[in-house]
Amino acid sequence: MRTRPLKVALLGCGVVGSEVARIMTTHAADLAARIGAPVELAGVAVRRPDKVREGIDPALVTTDATALVKRGDIDVVVEVIGGIEPARTLITTAFAHGASVVSANKALIAQDGAALHAAADEHSKDLYYEAAVAGAIPLIRPLRESLAGDKVNRVLGIVNGTTNFILDAMDTTGAGYQEALDEATALGYAEADPTADVEGFDAAAKAAILAGIAFHTRVRLDDVYREGMTEVTAADFASAKEMGCTIKLLAICERAADGGSVTARVHPAMIPLSHPLANVREAYNAVFVESEAAGQLMFYGPGAGGSPTASAVLGDLVAVCRNRIGGATGPGESAYAALPVSPMGDVVTRYHISLDVADKPGVLAQVATVFAEHGVSIDTVRQSGKDGEASLVVVTHRASDAALGGTVEALRKLDTVRGVASIMRVEGE
Ligand code: NDP
Ligand code: HSE
Repeated sequence: MRTRPLKVALLGCGVVGSEVARIMTTHAADLAARIGAPVELAGVAVRRPDKVREGIDPALVTTDATALVKRGDIDVVVEVIGGIEPARTLITTAFAHGASVVSANKALIAQDGAALHAAADEHSKDLYYEAAVAGAIPLIRPLRESLAGDKVNRVLGIVNGTTNFILDAMDTTGAGYQEALDEATALGYAEADPTADVEGFDAAAKAAILAGIAFHTRVRLDDVYREGMTEVTAADFASAKEMGCTIKLLAICERAADGGSVTARVHPAMIPLSHPLANVREAYNAVFVESEAAGQLMFYGPGAGGSPTASAVLGDLVAVCRNRIGGATGPGESAYAALPVSPMGDVVTRYHISLDVADKPGVLAQVATVFAEHGVSIDTVRQSGKDGEASLVVVTHRASDAALGGTVEALRKLDTVRGVASIMRVEGE
């Protein structure tokens, strides 16, 4: 074992960073044995220097993150501040000053991954970010390395712990949205601004990262269709139950059947209770990867929280330190396929549409005609009516999102349709 320690600068010491520091300290001997050299915490950058941080030597704490990454003797920078700036500049500065980087920052990687990989390459350094997608679950490394010889066609799953926690609570305990969000925040699952979770931005960033790696194609955040879960209601859960389904916020990245393009989307969807994703509870995540040779793989585990996320960060830290000692770098960006990303209108799936209509003769036929005119085939219709008004629930066969959009637009124009109460995609069948 080499005796000179590898020096680590920790940027951020919040929910994730404090657990990274704790594990680095408590597992120091094991980490040294696995890496082949001791790792030393050389500095900890935070915003509030006076906050008491258990297990952290106050002498290591600084508010000058830039000076820390510029020191020149840092081997690895662990960025767990979050957000775009100053994280982006700190990471590029770290490369320029000789350090490799481990980050948990999905927002930044999804937005600027290509430029950050280029900066890492320019300086022959590593950029690893296993913790950026699905917390503790090893997903980036399996896609990037274990499946590097296969052809991935689909990645589908639950990649946001906070929203899964909320939807699970709404479904199983009848908890209100705000109450469940407050609990998820208190447990350290939510982003600094939980809008990123509930409006689907966090899951969309993860989908962009996953699609990029799975399809060897640059997928930008803007390429990912995104709907959050704030509009999911107790009535939607009741409808889902009647169909033998529950509701999950899904991220779905697919290669088109002809292989010539890809799509990436995040939205709430009904899935059958018999589907394994239906049983993913609390802040757990689960992701299915379908590839040509391997078939279907499922990855499951804690998707958020300090300790699970720190596990993924530490795994990257060990890998990067080993590379450093061996004088090597790990895999960089692979975007050679450069497939076009198709718009949401091209996505084909099933839909559950809930309409408020007038309860009188001919209405059902009128509604059915609109579906037929747009080439959307109806699978089932359920009507319940009272006092001249009725609720009509239509479940379609597979249709394109563009066709469904046209159908809904036309339905809204019918005098007999009082409103479109909800539209939800049905997946996993
Ligand atoms: P927190 O808000 O708990 O921690 C952020 C840390 O960054 C704090 O220690 C804060 O300092 C420090 N910080 C903020 N701004 C600066 C700055 N300008 N200079 C130096 N330090 C700064 O966030 P999390 O630990 O929850 O998340 C960190 C990253 O990990 C994010 O990218 C997040 O998306 C990602 N992540 C989080 C998961 C989770 O479950 N929480 C799971 C997977 C990824 P101070 O302590 O003084 O406020
Ligand atoms: N806020 C994120 C989530 C953290 O809830 O999934 C893990 O990436």
